[in-house]
Formats: sequence, C-alpha cells, structure tokens
Amino acid sequence: MDVEYRQFENKRELYGYICNMAEKITAETSDTVAVLSNISALLMLELADVNWSGFYIDRDGRLVLGPFQGKPAVAEIAYGKGVCGTAYSMNETRIVENVHKCENHIACDFSTSSEIVVPIRTGSGIYGVIDIDSPVVSRFDEEDREGLEKLACIIADKVR
Ligand code: SME
Repeated sequence: MDVEYRQFENKRELYGYICNMAEKITAETSDTVAVLSNISALLMLELADVNWSGFYIDRDGRLVLGPFQGKPAVAEIAYGKGVCGTAYSMNETRIVENVHKCENHIACDFSTSSEIVVPIRTGSGIYGVIDIDSPVVSRFDEEDREGLEKLACIIADKVR
C-alpha cells in the first residue's frame, strides 16, 4: 500500500516523531484525560488513512471509551468482546486486516475496513488499549505494531 508519509522517509521515522511528540505531551500535564486527548489527536493527524483513533480504558470489569477522534463509538466493551476486548483479555496487540471478515469485531463505523489494537501495560496490569481504525484494508502492519507498542510504553509510564 502506498502511504504518503509527509516529511518522513518511512514508518520508523514517523513513529519516532510520534513518540517524541507523545513524550512532550505527557510532560506537559499530569492529567490523564489531557494526555490521552492530545495523543488521540496526534495519531489522527499524523497517520495516513485513519478514520478513528482513541482509547478504551479498564474500569471495574469492562473497557470504557476514553478520549478519541472520529465518529461516536460504542461506550463499553466487555473483556473478550470485539477486537479491543480480545486484545485486552489476551494481553497482545491485534491487527485485523479486514474487519468485515472478522466475526468478533464490533462495528462503530461501516467505512472502517481494518483495525489495530494495542494494550497499554503498566507494572500492575493493563490500563487499557489504543484503538486505531482505517478505511483501507490491511492498513496496519508489523511496523505499526512496533511503533504503537513503543507509544503504549510512553503512555503507560504516565498513567501507572
Ligand atoms: N471495533 C472495535 C470497537 C471500537 S471502534 O472500532 C471505535 C472492536 O471490535 O473492539
């Protein structure tokens, strides 16, 4: 897939920039809502072919919608349900190449075709997940996984 990477040579550079920006964002405030709001905006701005970026956060036995950019989305997801609940329960990044062929996918926007969900692991457990959707089939690959798992570590340091 051809993606226009703005001023970046490749995805590694792009995620290096995103992680640097995230460090700055997390240093600005101790408020988690402010941090997650700005990081969801950063992802929406910098990643090509993305129609939703945001967070689901672990709250008393289920995942609850956190700060995001995009269309209104499902407010609560049970552990093990959908791509988000599965990533959380299995404690692993999930990449879905075509959500229309994925049975355990919760549809929020029918223009979405692919999705990546990355757990935010703290020392004491999983804080929640990063969720990013794309209207392009197979939008996310191993380089996205690597970059977003680094971003999740930066977020985890802030929220732990
Ligand atoms: N598709 C997700 C639900 C959240 S929306 O993508 C914003 C899932 O299957 O868990």
